[in-house]
Amino acid sequence: MTEKRPSPTRRALTLTAAATLALSFVSAVPGAQADPLTGFINVGHRGSSGLAPENTIAGLELAAMHQPDVVEVDVQLSADGQPILFHDTTGARTTNVATVFPSRASHPITTFTYAELQQLDAGSWFGPAFAGEKIPLLSDVLDELYPDVGVVIEIKEPASSPGIEQVIADELAADPRWDDLLDDGLLMATSFDASSLQTLRTLHPDIPLGLVGAIPSSNTTLNSIATWADEMVTNYRLMDPADIARVKAAGMRFGVYTVNDPDHMANLLSQGVDTIMTDFPKVLEDVQANVDPLPGANGIEIVCVNADVPGSDLTANFGENLALRNNGSTTVNVSGYYVRDAVINELVVGSGYSIPPGGELRIYTGPGTNASTRYFNNLGTAVLNNNGDSLALYTSTGELIDLYAYRGNW
Ligand code: G3P
Ligand code: CA
Repeated sequence: MTEKRPSPTRRALTLTAAATLALSFVSAVPGAQADPLTGFINVGHRGSSGLAPENTIAGLELAAMHQPDVVEVDVQLSADGQPILFHDTTGARTTNVATVFPSRASHPITTFTYAELQQLDAGSWFGPAFAGEKIPLLSDVLDELYPDVGVVIEIKEPASSPGIEQVIADELAADPRWDDLLDDGLLMATSFDASSLQTLRTLHPDIPLGLVGAIPSSNTTLNSIATWADEMVTNYRLMDPADIARVKAAGMRFGVYTVNDPDHMANLLSQGVDTIMTDFPKVLEDVQANVDPLPGANGIEIVCVNADVPGSDLTANFGENLALRNNGSTTVNVSGYYVRDAVINELVVGSGYSIPPGGELRIYTGPGTNASTRYFNNLGTAVLNNNGDSLALYTSTGELIDLYAYRGNW
């Protein structure tokens, strides 16, 4: 078990005067490490969801070991009103619902009772090591994270979970550990839905709120949001760097999601963002500490992504693809290496492939004729997101060796 980080390095979630004073005090605690990022929050997105299945106990456990400041979870209601950790609208991507409930595989996750949801395997889709993971309840989060790691509760698709704000407020009132986190500045609620957050505020006046979405171009609108929200959380690929100062001038924190590439992390830190949400919180922790975030790197790197090619993304020999390059000094056998995107689509390298120093291997999603510098996965569907994404490269034994982000079509 990884040693817990001492509590003086915790960082508060709010920008209230009290919290700012508290943070000043934290920096002044004798023996506490001076922290130039005072107030910065490292958020593990859906746990440590690059390395363990999102919104599961396994993902929370890993996040607890990686020690971000807080972990973000998505909350919806089961059909019988239980607050479950689940991101998608249906169970198709992250569970075996098609096997357990074949006639209901495309039904909203909110139409399943909690007892039904407990029959699902929410881990095998990510990897066999996670077989049998269950869909947790919001209350389970505390058992994994409290007291060292805080929680961001994202109210996901509240229109599909009527009454979810009251259920969350009831849960927060039911266990005093939530109040402890709140007192320590380690609890926050977020949503794309402003009215849902405002409803929660009426039920729980003390909880900090983060509105997720594009930064409004109008300062009047920003100032209006700032009358009730503590933070704006936005897609880092879509933001204008000038938005950071505008949001802060309105009195809110500026958060970004979902940043997985170390270079982008460092760049955003230097721009002064207050919160970075990432699927790889340990990588962000290392970037913050100026420690090598990818100690297993061996010279093989993702250097190019062609997600949106002319014609079909699955055209034989000419479909969507990415390139691996060997930037090291020795030939590397890359057989069995694999690349995963942020929703864990996977492209692999077949057996018998090596890349010499300076050489490249192009990996295609669709069909084609394999050659020494081209490998075709022959998948039936395109997977590389045209709107930009993050990609993680692993060796055949599962070691993370590169993280790469591309911007896409805007
Ligand atoms: O809260 C920011 C981020 O989590 C929103 O995107 O799709 O991961 O819930 P998503
Ligand atoms: Ca989320």
